[in-house]
Amino acid sequence: MTERSPTLAELRRRTSIKWQAYGPDVLPAWIADMDFPVAPVIRAAIEAALDRGDLGYPLGYEKSGLIDVFCARMVARYGWTVAPAQVDFFSDVVQTIYLALLTLSEPGDGIVIQTPIYPPFLQAVRETGRRADICPLTQSPTGYTIDFDLLERAVDARTRVFLLCHPHNPTGRAYTRSELEGLAEFVRRHDLLVISDEIHADLMLDGRRHIPFASLGADISKRTLTLTSPSKPFNIAGLCLAVAVFGSEPLSHRFSALPAHVRGGRSALGMAAAHAAWTEGEPWLEHTCARLRVNRDRVAAFIAAHWPQVGHVPPEATYLAWLDCRALKLDREAQAFFLRHARVALSEGPTFGSAGVGFVRLNFATTPAVLEEILGRMDEALRRHGGMSG
Ligand SMILES: Cc1ncc(COP(=O)(O)O)c(C=O)c1O
Repeated sequence: MTERSPTLAELRRRTSIKWQAYGPDVLPAWIADMDFPVAPVIRAAIEAALDRGDLGYPLGYEKSGLIDVFCARMVARYGWTVAPAQVDFFSDVVQTIYLALLTLSEPGDGIVIQTPIYPPFLQAVRETGRRADICPLTQSPTGYTIDFDLLERAVDARTRVFLLCHPHNPTGRAYTRSELEGLAEFVRRHDLLVISDEIHADLMLDGRRHIPFASLGADISKRTLTLTSPSKPFNIAGLCLAVAVFGSEPLSHRFSALPAHVRGGRSALGMAAAHAAWTEGEPWLEHTCARLRVNRDRVAAFIAAHWPQVGHVPPEATYLAWLDCRALKLDREAQAFFLRHARVALSEGPTFGSAGVGFVRLNFATTPAVLEEILGRMDEALRRHGGMSG
């Protein structure tokens, strides 16, 4: 696949929040957008829609063929059989998490969350008046794991929902089948519903196949609402389209208690892009995972060579590196340190929960040149201001 990498000047012309939130001297490596050019099949689909003048109210999802395309892809990619009647679409995954909490639980109910965690999980639980049953993942030199004893202690009779992030942001963990079986046994025993956010499923970096949580068995499927989107793997977050798979009719009925218009409208360009991505986007996705793998390995090698005090285990999925900076002697919280001294914008660890204090998240989905500049600037900041010898 031949694609020219955008230059830094071209990237700075993007109007996205990633590129505009900070000043022109800052390199952004925070929010989860990628800096690669638009996938050619998505560009072609959008151009074709524009050529037709096709920006009116779109057909319903089932009539548009999008549901069938999604179902076919789930079988082909993950061996996961989903019936069209189980599928519905929304504007974005975070919106759907809020709607799911509002319809599938009551105020004060406990929602299990494994920290550190993608910050909107914490916000959604707080802002809907639910109770966060926080269960930190256990950090070890080889990566984060689930402590099932801790999980047992995190829940009580008021716990209703397990809000699962799989693959996990920010740690990049892609749980193994045996870990997932352990979680399945746990949610069965405590009779919990599961909201499984699988938005990073297509971004497995080592050839392992993602295992949808709902595919673990009929009894698990029936208690699981799976959320996903083409937005992360195909880098189209601004086109606003997310998918919900309801594992059982009672789940979708409870959800349908919401008036349909609360869900927002359909995006003609989002639908066109998703259709193209899911039917013709596999070569681009494969190419993208390959370049993410190269970047991931570069970040890991750089850290091992230059910043031995920084804790880091390369992610199995996602394009996010989670850096434990607690052993560095920084003059402020790590994100503020790198913003001030390196002019690199990372994501702030503490927003991922108290398990993130002293950490930063680095988005490495950029061009090799920009990645080198990010690492070089951070390195220099650490040498000058971070108490590391040169
Ligand atoms: C785990 C997770 N869920 C959801 C989202 C956002 O999805 P959406 O833009 O569809 O709300 C992200 C974005 O990075 C994410 O990492």
